[in-house]
Amino acid sequence: MSFPTHRPRRLRTTPAMRRMTAEHRLAAPELILPAFIREGLTEPNPIASMPGVVQHTTDSLKRAAAEAVELGVGGIMLFGIPAERDARGTASLDPDGVLNKAIRDVRAEVGDELVVMSDVCLDEFTDHGHCGVLDADGYVDNDATLEIYAAMAVAQADAGAHMLGPSGMMDGQIGVIRQALEGAGHTNTAVVAYAAKYASAFYGPFREAVDSQLKGDRRTYQMDAANRREAILEVELDLAEGADLVMVKPAMSYLDILADVAAMSTVPVAAYQISGEYSMIEAAAANGWIDRRAAITESVLGIKRAGANMVLTYWASELAGWLKES
Ligand code: PBG
Repeated sequence: MSFPTHRPRRLRTTPAMRRMTAEHRLAAPELILPAFIREGLTEPNPIASMPGVVQHTTDSLKRAAAEAVELGVGGIMLFGIPAERDARGTASLDPDGVLNKAIRDVRAEVGDELVVMSDVCLDEFTDHGHCGVLDADGYVDNDATLEIYAAMAVAQADAGAHMLGPSGMMDGQIGVIRQALEGAGHTNTAVVAYAAKYASAFYGPFREAVDSQLKGDRRTYQMDAANRREAILEVELDLAEGADLVMVKPAMSYLDILADVAAMSTVPVAAYQISGEYSMIEAAAANGWIDRRAAITESVLGIKRAGANMVLTYWASELAGWLKES
């Protein structure tokens, strides 16, 4: 009688067997919680397209950060929404501006218990919503933008950020920021490069989250979804410019990119499970079409399996809570 010489099902027979032989598992310290703070709010403001996510007040942000610490989450990534915007995003440089103040407040709350990270980008601060300043033709001016990023980075490091996340996809941004940080004495402030960031339809809900003023798209600076090889170039450049971590974004439609980057990067690799990825799962779960907890867990595990060492996800605290239970 013939029988299969190898039966992979043997390792699937019991929960204990599956647990012991699992190749990957999730852990709270590698989860990073993106969080929004909006200037002038008196109550947290729900984001309709991201059920369960809010624009925070100072108090609710501090509570969310303290809760993340409690749950063992690794880090928090802060995004600020200012009351006033202008063409050059000048509010981003104000030491008392919404984001810089939030960094100080969160650091005061959590100290070094959580890695406090902040977004270095102009899109929340400009009245046109682009990630940089515009030239006379309305084109995003790379090198003029770099000068502002450098000043913004120093302001955020002064405020106490442990790690900066430049997300604007300007060429040379990592090098310019690194140089500015060194010049200001912030030698230990780390930089996570949004190295391979694609122009994605899945950012839709984020635009509501930050009240984005953008009309049009970011295709002259973010990567084209058609390109895979180019991601390696972007990562190589950022590594050469001094990136401490590199990131792939979005995550779920770009798992091939993540696997490529994980295979070649000499620094840890992060992936950002973005707003649209969050909202799709929430919407399907709200309709009763999928099992919410199982789908969330599977989606983040898939990102990890593809090669991410860290995952930015709006479910970071909730997921960390589940991991504590199990
Ligand atoms: C730009 C930025 C964006 C996101 C993070 N940083 C928006 C964009 O590039 O259009 C998107 C994050 C998300 O969708 O969850 N500062």
